[in-house]
Formats: sequence, C-alpha cells, structure tokens
Amino acid sequence: MTDHLPPFLHPFARPAADRFVEIVRGEGALVWDSDGREYVDALASLWYCVVGHGRTEIADAVGDQLRTLDAFHTFELFTNPAAERLAAELVAISPIEDARVFLTNSGSEAVDTAMKLSRLFWAWQGRPERSVIVSRDRAYHGVTYGGTSAQGLAPNKEHWGELLGGVVQVHADSLEDVERQLAEHGDRIAAVITEPVQGAGGVFPPADGYLEGLRDLCDRTGALLVFDEVITGFGRLGTWWGADRYGVTPDLVTFAKGVTSGYQPLGGVLVGPRVREVLEADDQRWLRHGFTYSGHPAACAAASANLSVIRSDDLLPRAPAIGDRLGPALHGMVEDGLAAGVRGTDGIWALALHPEDSALVVRDEMLELGVIPRPIATHSIAFCPPLVVTDDQLDRVVDATRTALTTVRDRSGA
Ligand SMILES: Cc1ncc(COP(=O)(O)O)c(C=O)c1O
Repeated sequence: MTDHLPPFLHPFARPAADRFVEIVRGEGALVWDSDGREYVDALASLWYCVVGHGRTEIADAVGDQLRTLDAFHTFELFTNPAAERLAAELVAISPIEDARVFLTNSGSEAVDTAMKLSRLFWAWQGRPERSVIVSRDRAYHGVTYGGTSAQGLAPNKEHWGELLGGVVQVHADSLEDVERQLAEHGDRIAAVITEPVQGAGGVFPPADGYLEGLRDLCDRTGALLVFDEVITGFGRLGTWWGADRYGVTPDLVTFAKGVTSGYQPLGGVLVGPRVREVLEADDQRWLRHGFTYSGHPAACAAASANLSVIRSDDLLPRAPAIGDRLGPALHGMVEDGLAAGVRGTDGIWALALHPEDSALVVRDEMLELGVIPRPIATHSIAFCPPLVVTDDQLDRVVDATRTALTTVRDRSGA
C-alpha cells in the first residue's frame, strides 16, 4: 500500500498514479485546470460534450428540475414528466420509426440492455437458443460484463475471470466473416452489434457498403442489428445518428454521452417495432430489467435542454465543417512524415502514430501546449471536439499536434 496516493481510485488509470490534471472550469471548447492553465478540449472530454462546457441553460434546467422533484423511480407504477418528455423527444428524432426508448445511466448499461433485449426477443418467441451476440474486433462497448464481453480490445478483457458466454467476435472489416458465422450458427444468433464508426478502438469509419451488408445479412438470417451509437449519436457525424448518416436502419440503437453532453449521466436504448412487437405481445409479461435511476428526472431535464441547444445553435452541420478543417490538416502531418496515417470523418478523427512514438508522450507534449487530445487504441491520438469549437481553436489543436509530433520525433532522433 502506498500512503501518498489520493483517495480517488481513478478509472482507466494506473492505480499507483499520483499525478492528475485537475480540471476546475469549462466554457465552450475550453477548460481550465487548478493552476489556471487553459486547454482546448479536443476530445469533448470523453467524446461526450457536444454542446460545449458551461451552458447555463442546461445547468438551469437541472437546477429547476431538482427544486421541483429531485427524483422518483420509474419502475412499475411510476413515471415523471421529465422522463416522458425526453422519451417523446428521442423517439421523434429516432432513426427507427415507431421506436420506444429504455433509459439507463451510461453507455455500458445501454449495451447490456440491448444485449439482454436481443436475447429476450428470441426467448419470448420460444427460441431461447438464439442467444449468441456477434460483435467485431476493435469494438468498444463499455465495461460491464456484457460490454466487456462484446468489446474487441484485448487488454480490456483480461483478468476479469469468465466473461459472458455466447458472444462471438468477428474480424472488424470482414463482412465475409459475419456471413460465415451466420451461415454456420445462424439459428443460434440473436443479434449483431456494431458501432457505425468504431470509436475508442481507433476511429474506423465503415468501409463502403459494410453497414448495408450487415443489414442485409441480418435480414436474411433474422438476427437483430444493434447500432452502438454511444459516440456517433447526437451530431458527431453531421446527423442525429450514424444510422442517418449511412442510411441504414438498425433494430436497436444504444446511446449515451452526447444525449446530455455530459451535464448528467444518461444513456438508453431505442427499441424498434420488431422488438417492440414481441415485448408488447403478451399483456401479462414483465420486463424484469431496469436501473434505480432509469428515467432520473434531473438527467432527463439535462438531456432535453441539451437537445434544445443542439437545435437552437444549429450544431449538426458543424461536424462536417470540423472535418473539412481538421481532416486535411491531419493528412498534411502524414505527408510531412510526422504520423503514419489518418482515420475519421466529420467530427471524429484519429491520427495513427509511427510505431516508435508513444501516444502518451505525444499527449503529454500537447498538454504542455494547451490542448487535450486522447491517446487511444491502435497507437493513435483521437480528436472529437465539442461541436461549438471555433476555427481558431481547431487551428490551435492542429498547431499543437504538429509541434508535439515534431518535438517527440526530434527528441528520439526519428
Ligand atoms: C461505442 C461505445 N459504447 C459504449 C460505451 C460505454 O459507455 P459508458 O462509458 O458511458 O459506460 C462507450 C464509451 O466510450 C462507447 O464509446
């Protein structure tokens, strides 16, 4: 045991780490630390702060709600106006017609919910053997046992004991691999889950036709198609959903992050008519799944206010504009030999580093220059700024990236 360590045991960090940058304030795409240093938040915190920091209208909506009704559960027999209002708003923008929405506190819980609903869908039709979930390698689906089992990032799956059975992973880019699984085990497969653009696993947009191909394979075999839109939802791709951006309609959609821009924790699952029909068929059946805070009114009020800001600030078109500025600048760094490759689209980007450069070291160098990117899987640095980021702030991100890479490579003699 080490006495000097702070009491807060941090997520996704070394338990022995004793140095953290303390963020105390935010406004727009900027945040400040406790030493007064200003940073451009180049990943919208953890991909979630779509509308930027410091939006008082969202804070006010949460405060008003807490002063009216702090919380009351939504298990049978209760509901609250904030949850009902948000559900109606989400259903109105859903990429699936006639959807309903189940609410959770996080993306991981949303993924677990979608996995459970997929199995329930078949079990309630008398086909409990159709319980296998197919997911892609490089996928990130969160950290609960369901999400850990479905994600494709090996280090995140180690040392947790036995993971969920009945989860099969396919090669991330191979439709043929999915087709093979469906051909061999089609009558056991409940659902295929994918992020429309793989995010934390390295930022991989889908190859042309990939999502359409998945839809087609699912249609042919009856498997449900689940889009995990925890990152891609709420404007990151210039549309409300990745499903809209790529013109492919899934059966279930998981979301979190951008639904509140992080002002309160909230996630959920859009449940399309195919699943609804089975769930609602027998009036005597109970959905025995839910979280104490499903439909928490303060979280729902934050989400409704956040959706209003996305509309009133006309933020959806900002994502392609960000891509137009960031994409060519990142490509320029590859042309100049500073990095190995670029992946991304619209508001979601990653720069693949040369094997000899450390993503953590590049990140640290960028912090010194007043920019916070995120080192992610596949040896990359990720960018996904709030949609309110200004051109000037984007240029600061680009300049800091270029300078940091030059410094790191000069230092190593590369
Ligand atoms: C695609 C995807 N799914 C699920 C999750 C898990 O969400 P949470 O961290 O809110 O549990 C994430 C988080 O980054 C994600 O990117």
